[in-house]
Amino acid sequence: MADQWRTIIEPFRIKSVEPLHLTSQEQRERALERAGYNLFALQSDEVLIDLLTDSGTGAMSAEQWASMMRGDESYAGSASYERFRSAVHDLTGLPHVIPVHQGRAAERILFAETVKAGDVIPNNTHFDTTRANIEHDEGVALDLPCPEASDTQTPAPFKGNMDLGKLEDLLARPDINVPMVFLTVTNNSIGGQPVSMANIRAVREICDRYAVPLFIDAARFAENCWFVIEREDGYEESTPKEVAQELFSYADGATMSAKKDGLVNIGGFLAVKDDELAERCRALLILTEGFPTYGGLAGRDLEAIAQGLHEVLEPGYLRYRARTAAYLAEKCWEAGVPTVRPAGGHAVYLDAAAILPHIPREQFPAQALAVELYRLGGVRGVEVGSVMFGAAAQQELVRLALPRRVYTQSHIDYVIEVVTAAFHRRTSIRGFRIVDEPPFLRHFTARFAELV
Ligand code: F0G
Repeated sequence: MADQWRTIIEPFRIKSVEPLHLTSQEQRERALERAGYNLFALQSDEVLIDLLTDSGTGAMSAEQWASMMRGDESYAGSASYERFRSAVHDLTGLPHVIPVHQGRAAERILFAETVKAGDVIPNNTHFDTTRANIEHDEGVALDLPCPEASDTQTPAPFKGNMDLGKLEDLLARPDINVPMVFLTVTNNSIGGQPVSMANIRAVREICDRYAVPLFIDAARFAENCWFVIEREDGYEESTPKEVAQELFSYADGATMSAKKDGLVNIGGFLAVKDDELAERCRALLILTEGFPTYGGLAGRDLEAIAQGLHEVLEPGYLRYRARTAAYLAEKCWEAGVPTVRPAGGHAVYLDAAAILPHIPREQFPAQALAVELYRLGGVRGVEVGSVMFGAAAQQELVRLALPRRVYTQSHIDYVIEVVTAAFHRRTSIRGFRIVDEPPFLRHFTARFAELV
């Protein structure tokens, strides 16, 4: 009777360990100066708890490592491709499965074959690389998040939803060409919030009415399915796999970064229904990624993804996964620290504008908070605000993204202690100015100076 116990434990034990790197505050201060206060410029051994991203940073299981030994490295017709294809097909029902080295490669290939100058591609919210790849092909990446998404402080079960009215208005316009509609599950850019099955179904109906294909950005599909089971009527008794199969049944295609819910360190896929589109995508794949039975990956990587897609749908894993983010968020709230509500599936987003009201936007409050978390406790999060998005920034957030199966509850307790300590000394935290920045994607390489 496992059900009588309230503690949700990590559903794994640890077979292989990697040391953490303890540093003194003095060493971190020196590292910050050298890095120009840009946390992307730190060496990993200067970081104690690394919450920069949940992408490619997860731990693989013993079964995944074992499956890698079976990797068939044949250039063409690899048996590993067949196992990979069959795992993706079983989940998505999509007939054409094209392996790629990571999510953005799937985006690049798909958009190169479908987007013409001036075309509009709506999404609940585009992830940066999705937007950048559409814009690279001179398309317009349009975000249509639901109205609840803009209120960070009021919880709602499905803040990742798409605004159906605005989608319908867009598709009804005869002067605009929409080659496809996208849905990102979960919606990373607005706080890792899920999309309800009702919303997906409604988007599908609208797409049907205007004969426009629907694509899923499936990077965190399993976490989205878990929220559907927890929060949406009629799904309480479903398995994550059943929910995932229903979700993909509404799609004409999917792009996937397997670095998230594929539970691997590298890999992804593009899956499509349309035969002719698949042919064109495969031709481009051969040009830039590799032959269609490996697409930029080793056979062993394909094996690890096939196994990862199976493990990521285990209810015990997903329960622990969602609980970790919820626990971190609840402890932040208890300490009075404002975050986006509710917690996302893969991350907790601290509301730096609310925490540091004395630092104006031009002085990058979220950057200041992220630097403080590192300075105090060696915790590395990522700024999601005016440094990343410039004047287009909607919010000033610090994302604490949780790598999969990597940290234990005591690591999370430590993070909570560091966040709380930073919050207590918030009035002495100072803003920053940029002293050096590149023309594009400045958050990766800009250098900062702390204001006095
Ligand atoms: N779609 C979503 C929703 C993502 O979050 C990402 C990556 C991608 C596509 C691109 O996939 O990195 O494999 O090329 N997100 C990472 C993050 C980088 O930190 O959120 P990729």
